[in-house]
Amino acid sequence: MALERIQKILAKAGVASRREAERMMIEGRVTVNGRVIEVLGFKADPSKDHIKVDGKRLNLFEPKVILLLNKPRGYLSTVRDPKGRPTIMDLLKNPKWRIYPVGRLDFDAEGLLLLTNDGDLAHLLSHPKFSVPKTYLVKVTGVPEEKKLTRLKKGVALEDGEAKAVSCSLIQEREKNSWVRIVVTEGRNHLVKRMFSAIGHPVLKLKRIEYGPIQLGDLPFGQFRFLTPEEMEKLKKADGR
Ligand code: URA
Repeated sequence: MALERIQKILAKAGVASRREAERMMIEGRVTVNGRVIEVLGFKADPSKDHIKVDGKRLNLFEPKVILLLNKPRGYLSTVRDPKGRPTIMDLLKNPKWRIYPVGRLDFDAEGLLLLTNDGDLAHLLSHPKFSVPKTYLVKVTGVPEEKKLTRLKKGVALEDGEAKAVSCSLIQEREKNSWVRIVVTEGRNHLVKRMFSAIGHPVLKLKRIEYGPIQLGDLPFGQFRFLTPEEMEKLKKADGR
């Protein structure tokens, strides 16, 4: 095998996303042949070099898995939290694989979250240039008029640039709030909440029900399942280009 950057090797081996792997390196958790490597450009040959994370040797031949979790509110979508708050790992109960989430759902958001040990796939799905559509059901304050939903489809200005919905429709109207179905392709932080705040209808509840071709279905809260081989194939082709 050829020389590759450590963060790429770690992502391929399913340890973490490239970005997370870089953080691990900076934290001094990665060694190559017994030496702590904190330099992000450092390269190694995974077939010859002994690469360890937290003292554990990498397994380059671990089978690739993708899990679908129905995340309840009140859980962080990170592998660990320095403040000790509940994380999705508490729901997965000692997974056999080193899996980590594809993108994030907010602490107070719920629904479909994918987790994988396939670094390349996680990178592909979360990268802004691959626009995978994500569908959310959102409970908002008040009842947005049609022209406001049209504004979301045309694009609203946020502090980090314009954001657009692929589609957006009112599905239930109540006296003081309503439910809207919205599809977006980006994964910027708090994107959907910020979009609805921009049109004057702050989000009260947010649930992701679809990620590309994958649907949450009737999986109970806090439960997870493996994607089927067919779903995995579809997902790999779901980059929206
Ligand atoms: N948009 C949000 O505001 N929060 C999420 O968790 C996902 C999308």
